[in-house]
Amino acid sequence: MQPIISVQGVGKTYAGGFTALKSVDLEITRGEIFALLGPNGAGKTTLISIICGIVNATNGRVTADGHDIQREFRAARSKIGLVPQELSTDSFESVWATVNFSRGLFGKAPNPEYIEKILRQLSLWEKKDSRIMALSGGMKRRVMIAKALSHEPSILFLDEPTAGVDVELRRDMWEMVRGLRANGVTVILTTHYIEEAEEMADRIGVINGGELVLVEDKHTLMRKLGKKQLAIQLQSPVAALPESLHEFALEVADEGNQLIYTFDTQREQTGIADLLRALNQHGIEFKDLHSSESSLEEIFVNLVHQNQSERQQAG
Ligand SMILES: Nc1ncnc2c1ncn2[C@@H]1O[C@H](COP(=O)(O)OP(=O)(O)OP(=O)(O)O)[C@@H](O)[C@H]1O
Ligand SMILES: [Mg+2]
Repeated sequence: MQPIISVQGVGKTYAGGFTALKSVDLEITRGEIFALLGPNGAGKTTLISIICGIVNATNGRVTADGHDIQREFRAARSKIGLVPQELSTDSFESVWATVNFSRGLFGKAPNPEYIEKILRQLSLWEKKDSRIMALSGGMKRRVMIAKALSHEPSILFLDEPTAGVDVELRRDMWEMVRGLRANGVTVILTTHYIEEAEEMADRIGVINGGELVLVEDKHTLMRKLGKKQLAIQLQSPVAALPESLHEFALEVADEGNQLIYTFDTQREQTGIADLLRALNQHGIEFKDLHSSESSLEEIFVNLVHQNQSERQQAG
């Protein structure tokens, strides 16, 4: 199937000479929820702004639903809704006027029923006649979402949709994003909340230092890069480990009271049985076993660190 968004060799060097994106290739599948993760300054907003035609790329090409974002800007842009990271909504206008006006900007005929539906979905209906400047921060953010949806886009970008949003609204937002996907909308979101990506995304892209370090199906990513650890609580502390246990690369923790064995969840043989047998042979007794699995957060932190040290070595 043809990707709904195709980013080919996109780079961005800002006027001051800073290169925020190197050469990014990315394809977004129609109907997916794609989460873009990366630390502050990684280039997430820059990439989104380029796809939405707000920032011009220095190199490369982007198409949205088959339309080149530069040569066919209007056609491409009409497919896209963007909820920007920075709110710029301090207006004297009412919620209702603002959202309807946004729709009009895209040359769409008025559709009050549709606007009512999205305002209700976003729990903004009671506030439809309020001036935007009189809303709370979380409500303003919801207005931004309503504006982004006002012209019935098939692609929605959410740049940090839940930054500074309370837990309940975050849940509502996730619910809404799922509902949009169920209606065929493709959603691309950036987030610093790893649990958000873990909860929502079909695929995950990790960006760091202007490079897309990895793009992977979420479950594959967690399976591939996820590590499991077995913590072995000993009866009595060990000072050093016998030579023949070195192959297990155990970590001695808690002043010799605990051994930590890290194993690969992908391998058929975890090696646990061999390890326990070997411990037994050396008369190392244990009183408790506890296993844990790495979260997406740990995977992410590892990836970013790895990429940073590779860059330092290269530069
Ligand atoms: N208009 C600009 N002029 C010069 N440099 C810029 C401009 N906009 C962004 N940058 C730089 O480009 C880099 C990437 O910024 P970007 O906003 O894309 O990061 P981000 O991944 O969205 O970060 P955050 O998580 O903080 O939102 C940063 O180093 C930033 O300082
Ligand atoms: Mg950003």
